[in-house]
Amino acid sequence: MLDFEYKNPTKIIFGKGKIKNIAKEIPADSKVLLLYGGGSIKNNGIYEQVKEALKDFQFLEFGGIPANPEYEVLLQALKVIKEENITYLLAVGGGSVIDGTKFLSSAALYEGRNPWDILTKSIRTEKGMPFGTVLTIPATGSEMNSGAVITRAETQEKLGMGGPGLFPEFSVLDPQVVSSLPERQLVNGITDAYTHVLEQYMTYPAGAFLQDRFSESIMQTLIEVGPRVIKDPSDYEAASNFMWCCTMALNGLIQKGVPTDWAVHSMGHELTALFGIDHARTLAIVAPSHYRYNFEAKKAKLAQYAERVWDVKEGTLEEKAVIAIQKTEEFFQSMDIKTKLSDYTESYEGTAQTIAKRFTARGWTRLGEHKALAPSDVEKIIEMSY
Ligand code: NZQ
Ligand code: ZN
Repeated sequence: MLDFEYKNPTKIIFGKGKIKNIAKEIPADSKVLLLYGGGSIKNNGIYEQVKEALKDFQFLEFGGIPANPEYEVLLQALKVIKEENITYLLAVGGGSVIDGTKFLSSAALYEGRNPWDILTKSIRTEKGMPFGTVLTIPATGSEMNSGAVITRAETQEKLGMGGPGLFPEFSVLDPQVVSSLPERQLVNGITDAYTHVLEQYMTYPAGAFLQDRFSESIMQTLIEVGPRVIKDPSDYEAASNFMWCCTMALNGLIQKGVPTDWAVHSMGHELTALFGIDHARTLAIVAPSHYRYNFEAKKAKLAQYAERVWDVKEGTLEEKAVIAIQKTEEFFQSMDIKTKLSDYTESYEGTAQTIAKRFTARGWTRLGEHKALAPSDVEKIIEMSY
């Protein structure tokens, strides 16, 4: 097992009807900015619950943060924060609204001239404006981690940021929010969380038995409850397990003491930036090719995963590892997630080269758990994903 430190300061408030508890979490003298997305919260009752909970607070609203939170829109919110002397942010939404809020938390206290530098210069946020979240879609884990991914349409970029100052102070997880999610978003959430586990597990054996079993149990639970949630999103038992799996998949716990990969996400983000493909779907496009390309380096863990998660008992280590990749791809396809880039766009030619060039320009030349993937490898993996 590798050495590690672990601290996660986010308070989770989990359960039915817990949105009202936000009133107890936000300091009484705060001036709050309530941030949300394209309006789903106004159709499913979440907005009313939040407003009721905030009734004794001074607060303003900022809606319209799009999926893949857009920098230009966030700059408008930043203006409101500064002009209105906002002191506390409340994100009500999914990964996009929460990530947008994290950017604002950082940018509100940032002293540099250009807040985009936070992303391009990888400026770590040690302290941000305090914020809490009400999660409306299980998927990213953003509700209990300190990372964010921000999009800039003008330059077709999607870049990450983070730092210890960007953990939410609290997050309300009421699984009842799942009931209004369309199937597209449900399967996105399952696929994203599943791939988060893979990124932290599908590396090489590191003698971290408990972390391996944490990861395997999250994947097994997603395989079990995923179809139930898709069939009936108001199935509370299934929704609550789905929600907690997504949070646990990316709150830092399962990655402690083990090597991590994250190359699938690095490549996937480019496909969202270039083609607007939903985040989770980009992962389903890249992951199978990534595991096939890096077969030798990953085959021991692939075989362990085949045995423990997919119950594959027959065959050699290599045979089990091959089946592991097939099973993963079939799992995505069983939820009607397409796993080839050409399923999403006709203009895929040249994508691999474009992405490889971008990675070279950014100095992203050593990806993966062995820091062994150069842009030329990225190019081949993306080509295999066409
Ligand atoms: O905008 P509204 O109208 O609210 O609609 C949203 C949006 O269209 C809708 N929705 C959310 N809750 C709903 C609902 N519709 C009905 N009922 C509800 N209860 O769902 C759509 C997608 O929302 P979004 O927030 O974009 O989804 P998700 O949570 O999957 O977030 C994706 C974003 O998070 C980033 C992704 O790159 C992407 O930008 N990620 C963030 C990570 C992190 N911070 O740790 C890690 C991830 O790997 C990921 O990169
Ligand atoms: Zn993801």
